[in-house]
Amino acid sequence: MYILGLESSCDDCSASVLEETARGPIVRSLVGKAQDTVHAPYGGVVPELAAREHLVQIRGVIEEALRQANISMGQVNRIAVTQGPGLVGSLLCTLSAAKALAWQHRTPLVPVHHILGHLNAARIAHPDLSMPALTLIVSGGHTHLYLSRHWTDLQLIQKTRDDAAGEAFDKTARMLNLGYPGGPIVDKCGQRAKHLAPPFTSPKFSDGRASWSFSGLKTGVRQRLIDQPELAEGGVDDPKVQALCHRLQTTIAEWLLAPLADYVHHYKVESLIVSGGVACNSELRKQAQAFATELGLSLAIPEPRYCTDNGAMIASAGALLPVLDDFTTLNADPDLRLPQLQVSSL
Ligand code: KG4
Ligand code: ZN
Repeated sequence: MYILGLESSCDDCSASVLEETARGPIVRSLVGKAQDTVHAPYGGVVPELAAREHLVQIRGVIEEALRQANISMGQVNRIAVTQGPGLVGSLLCTLSAAKALAWQHRTPLVPVHHILGHLNAARIAHPDLSMPALTLIVSGGHTHLYLSRHWTDLQLIQKTRDDAAGEAFDKTARMLNLGYPGGPIVDKCGQRAKHLAPPFTSPKFSDGRASWSFSGLKTGVRQRLIDQPELAEGGVDDPKVQALCHRLQTTIAEWLLAPLADYVHHYKVESLIVSGGVACNSELRKQAQAFATELGLSLAIPEPRYCTDNGAMIASAGALLPVLDDFTTLNADPDLRLPQLQVSSL
């Protein structure tokens, strides 16, 4: 079965052809157009500009994905498309393209929850992963921990109390004038560090529960900029900035993993899945590997191109989901609050 997966919930316009086989999914093509240069002058994604870019890009991206997979639209068995959550203009653009293609070619349509897509990015390389698993989704908008008993199951365990981990990377990078998007820049810069800057203060929670909070990192970086104003001008070649970036990503990785051990025992999980853009981070990947080894868990972290938003993860999830009953009505609209529909809480 061939699935065309489309994803444009934020600022990446991506299409992929994935073949679902008896041995699991095989990605036949993945095409993506980033919009970093469009949004970089503003230091963050501008929703209106993102939607306009998708409108220009989507047709060429789909055609290129089909061409690279060497198949025609007539051979596609289903179209999987992100329904939400995300930016409404971005979602609307790709959802409209998917509906038009489904109508024209009488191809069944499968609306996909974006986070279920991130989970299923891990299925591409690990179709036989032992379940139940703890699923850590870390991106620009999400820092959520779920229990997954199978590949279409996400039961919320906990989420960040304030900023998402990706936001922490992007905002602190912005304060240090390192550019946009901050995550990959902090990662590369931190890897060049010869030493580690002093630690940040860990958040304390009044209810005493192990949890996540990343907004204090902004205050921590602000304080260092007051103490050492030259950090703002140093850039990625400055050893002090490198040491700070190294500390930032070490801290984010440590804080992300810290509450997980208790849940591993409580839910008797066999695997750990880490996905979303921040799962590209070299330090998080290293620490997650060490954590999984220590607790005897199988670890599934997608390769970086499947961690950030991409069409292949949507196709991978779409392969397992029901198609719309009557696709000719095409009654799938963008849904910005989709978690309530498909993701159940414990
Ligand atoms: O999953 P994603 O592509 O989009 C959302 O659904 O948000 O994640 C984007 C986020 C951004 O905050 C970006 O800075 C972060 O992922 N990111 C990274 C790295 N690559 C991307 N953060 C840390 N290290 C990286 N190497
Ligand atoms: Zn995402």
